[in-house]
Amino acid sequence: MSKQGVIERYRRHLPVTDRTRVITLNEGSTPLIHAHNLSEAIHSRLEIWLKYEGLNPTGSFKDRGMTMAITKAVEDGFEGVMCASTGNTSASAAAYAARARIKCIVIIPEGKIALGKLSQAMIHGARVIQIRGNFDDALTLVRSITAKHPIQLVNSLNPYRIEGQKTAAFEIVDDFDGYAPDFHVLPVGNAGNITAYWKGYKEYKTAGKAKNLPQMLGFQAAGAAPIVLGHPVPNPKTFATAIRIGNPASWKTAVAARDESGGVIGMVTDQEIKQAYKMIASVEGIFAEPASCASIAGLIKLVKNGYFEKAKAVQGGRLRVVCVLTGHGLKDPDRAIKVAEEPVTIQAEEEAVLEEIGLLEPVAAGA
Ligand code: F0G
Repeated sequence: MSKQGVIERYRRHLPVTDRTRVITLNEGSTPLIHAHNLSEAIHSRLEIWLKYEGLNPTGSFKDRGMTMAITKAVEDGFEGVMCASTGNTSASAAAYAARARIKCIVIIPEGKIALGKLSQAMIHGARVIQIRGNFDDALTLVRSITAKHPIQLVNSLNPYRIEGQKTAAFEIVDDFDGYAPDFHVLPVGNAGNITAYWKGYKEYKTAGKAKNLPQMLGFQAAGAAPIVLGHPVPNPKTFATAIRIGNPASWKTAVAARDESGGVIGMVTDQEIKQAYKMIASVEGIFAEPASCASIAGLIKLVKNGYFEKAKAVQGGRLRVVCVLTGHGLKDPDRAIKVAEEPVTIQAEEEAVLEEIGLLEPVAAGA
């Protein structure tokens, strides 16, 4: 069967009717990839799986929530939608609004979103407004404007966004034949995604489709870690621009996910994120954007702290861990080029190439 969108695939678990006109780009059903090399490299007791959400139509997990939010905005008669964004939400909103043929306005922090994401919002025809402020300022503006005008807010404060995003938890359990992983690791920014995954796992368990629940392990960037610090961060800083957020909208539900699941919300430094970013690309062949790699960085940190030593696997044997890679690496090629080794430039000659790759002994001078 060709890939359906998440609304068709999980219709019974979502607030739609037979009359709902579904706006979809066939999002979801993303690969869950067994990361053998990473498991071996960081802890042999862990069986690590990567949920590669970068393979959604606009390159991030946001498409799951956006198909629902735009579908419902159309059903409810809105002719325009609006969001604040660190980049991915705006790319997704712009694409789904274009498909629904409704207007889309996005408010973004000037100079702080990856070029790929900006290009997406622009080419899909959204009205792109940059502000001299951060994501939190943008969200405050969007909340105020959409409360007063007939424009639908499509940030994750919109409950339909969470409904759509919870389908990723269903997919993971379906892939594991009715089991949730022992641990579920993900980056935390505005905290909608951790809220959605936890809701999805709980609903699937209640519906009898999941035998267990995972422990939720969320990671913020150290310069933008309000939940870890216990107070908003007025001037958040991190090179992982997608999670550069100082006052998450879904703060309370993120804390509930952590506490109800017996999990952790921790923080990782930009240096740790960078290392994880390079590692996942070089040892598994998977290119994820920097913010996504906060999940891998967090996992590595917990391993170093001995966090998993006493843990027991639900199915016995190794501990099963799912890390969500929330966005594609191609969203932000500038970062990759900055952290990777620079290419060399040589003459267009076979000898020169062979010498460069070590297959030719350089002729000693004077020989
Ligand atoms: N990873 C990526 C790639 C993101 O774009 C985001 C959030 C997150 C993780 C964090 O998810 O906010 O649900 O906790 N991006 C939003 C945006 C804020 O505007 O694109 P969250």
